[in-house]
Amino acid sequence: MQIADLDFCVPGDLKSLMEIEKACFAVPWEKDLIAADLAGGNSVYLKASFKNVVAGYGVLGQNEGAAHLMNMAVLPEYRRRGVASQIMAAFGVLAGEWLCRRMYLEVRASNAGARKFYAALGFVYSSRIKGYYGDGEDALTLIARLPLKL
Ligand SMILES: CC(C)(COP(=O)(O)OP(=O)(O)OC[C@H]1O[C@@H](n2cnc3c(N)ncnc32)[C@H](O)[C@@H]1OP(=O)(O)O)[C@@H](O)C(=O)NCCC(=O)NCCS
Repeated sequence: MQIADLDFCVPGDLKSLMEIEKACFAVPWEKDLIAADLAGGNSVYLKASFKNVVAGYGVLGQNEGAAHLMNMAVLPEYRRRGVASQIMAAFGVLAGEWLCRRMYLEVRASNAGARKFYAALGFVYSSRIKGYYGDGEDALTLIARLPLKL
């Protein structure tokens, strides 16, 4: 497995993150929202790069003592190389430093690939949120005890 370089995102990464968003999601996160986060939000943005190409990124926040995985996306041509797993390993360490015992996330019910990815890390079904996404699709809330299975 090729190891990616992990680093915190900076405002100059906005273009790369938007390219990843557009390549990964039918409804990408809004540019202004990401720009505001990068300028000084509460959530942590980590990027994984190969030779200065940002291949993927993830966003972790904190809510009532639990870590909240808010986003995870890897460019199609860089998938199944362990990129997202590397980011999750770093988020696991960070969540431990925050003294969180659990991590949770929302995923589209139809997103079978991501659900398998999270299941392999130890995430299990917690609840269903009807019509969570803008297009009306339900979200599944998944939760894992920390440390993650890596
Ligand atoms: C889900 C996603 C982030 C995974 O990223 P990745 O870098 O390819 O994941 P990894 O290479 O670290 O995968 C680790 C393991 O998870 C599982 N896995 C990952 N993607 C999978 C898929 N599409 N189908 C089945 N299992 C998968 C496999 O067990 C994999 O190990 P293997 O490749 O040795 O079999 C990526 O497919 C993606 O960006 N998808 C589009 C955006 C998205 O859906 N994000 C999640 C929003 S909640």
